[in-house]
Amino acid sequence: MSEPSEPARPLCGRRITLCVGGSIAAFKAASLASLLVKDGAEVQVVLTQAATEFINEATFSGLTGRPVLKNMFEPPAGAEVHIELGRASDLLVIAPATADLLARLATGRASDLVSTVALCARCPILCAPAMHPSMWSHPATQRNVATLRADGCVELVGPVEGVVASGESGVGRMVEPDVLAAMITARFAAKELLGRHVVVTAGPTAEDIDPVRYITNRSSGKMGFAIAERAAAHGARVTLIAGPVFLPTPRGVERIDIWSAEQMRDALWQAAGPDLAGADAIVMAAAVADFRPAAARAEKIRREGMADPLALDLVANPDIIGALGRARHGTRPVLVGFAMETGDDDELVASARRKLDAKHVDLVVGNRAEEAFARDDNRAILVGRTLLEPLARQSKHDLAERLVMWLVRQLGDPT
Ligand SMILES: Cc1cc2nc3c(=O)[nH]c(=O)nc-3n(C[C@H](O)[C@H](O)[C@H](O)COP(=O)(O)O)c2cc1C
Repeated sequence: MSEPSEPARPLCGRRITLCVGGSIAAFKAASLASLLVKDGAEVQVVLTQAATEFINEATFSGLTGRPVLKNMFEPPAGAEVHIELGRASDLLVIAPATADLLARLATGRASDLVSTVALCARCPILCAPAMHPSMWSHPATQRNVATLRADGCVELVGPVEGVVASGESGVGRMVEPDVLAAMITARFAAKELLGRHVVVTAGPTAEDIDPVRYITNRSSGKMGFAIAERAAAHGARVTLIAGPVFLPTPRGVERIDIWSAEQMRDALWQAAGPDLAGADAIVMAAAVADFRPAAARAEKIRREGMADPLALDLVANPDIIGALGRARHGTRPVLVGFAMETGDDDELVASARRKLDAKHVDLVVGNRAEEAFARDDNRAILVGRTLLEPLARQSKHDLAERLVMWLVRQLGDPT
């Protein structure tokens, strides 16, 4: 039996300075430090004074094997630690970044070690804000965020929507540490999709009939999840918009769970932005319901007194893919659709060609329901403007890799 191989340490030799702000999300920075160290990075932690109220420095020194820095004027920091750290780091990560830190960064303050290091740094700065949604949506914070984006000195990751510490919901949650760690690892690997944002939809949608019943389809989400995983593995920032499925989130992928076709449409536009400029590619692998009940009943339909046969009025769901195709200017984002058919290969190709023209997409992946739904493999035919490629039956992982390589060629060199 052969020895198990050494796990890959993709961050070996990389010097990462991890700055932690005074947010309840500071505990997530400990997981992040641990993941980065596991991947081989030399991690130097800098805590703001406020951060020390939330997490103990011993946690970080234990995880990183280095003393934590907090103050420009006190040991173990030397007289010029801010300049040294700014120069020597391969990457500066500020996570969690508080509203106050964003304000300091946006206005060029150098009032503490974190803001001073950020001002000295000539390496990329990755900033993961975390705060109550009211703080995040405040015009002052949004003004600071806009300034940081316009300056181009800081790359903001998140915050994402979800439940925050107060129990309320909204945009303000820090991106999860594993997503950040995967993004950081991807930065340092020579990845073809680095700097690209790929949006993937996956799974079925569900359309409510009444509070207990709904219409859905047999999509398992496996194809879309495999594409999201492969795109992230090739360095892309991936937003995965998933219908109701029971699949784990691929590493490094930001997942947005939705229920209905209308929610999927809204999440897609949110991820890609109103002019679609926020996405480099959109892969629509989801099996979106074509119809939904005209009006979901507020009360459960009861058997007693129920009409038999019971008529259910259905209305057409929004044509998500068609709307994206119509809204696109030029060739970005690259649009990939799926066509699911029950007929033979000729019908499949004809249907894929119709979809290609009618929806203004760049590629349609044709597949047959019985060969695709809920399986771990699939047999597909790729149909593009100048492409007709029947592929052999293969695992969804391999098919996803094939599609991502097609995307890489479409998107070209990010530089
Ligand atoms: C319990 C508690 C939780 C807080 N959580 C956050 C937060 O998540 N995000 C934020 O921007 N500020 C938060 N604050 C406020 C900051 O800690 C405060 O603005 C502090 O001055 C930030 O300092 P720093 O940016 O140097 O870390 C919180 C304060 C308290 C008391």
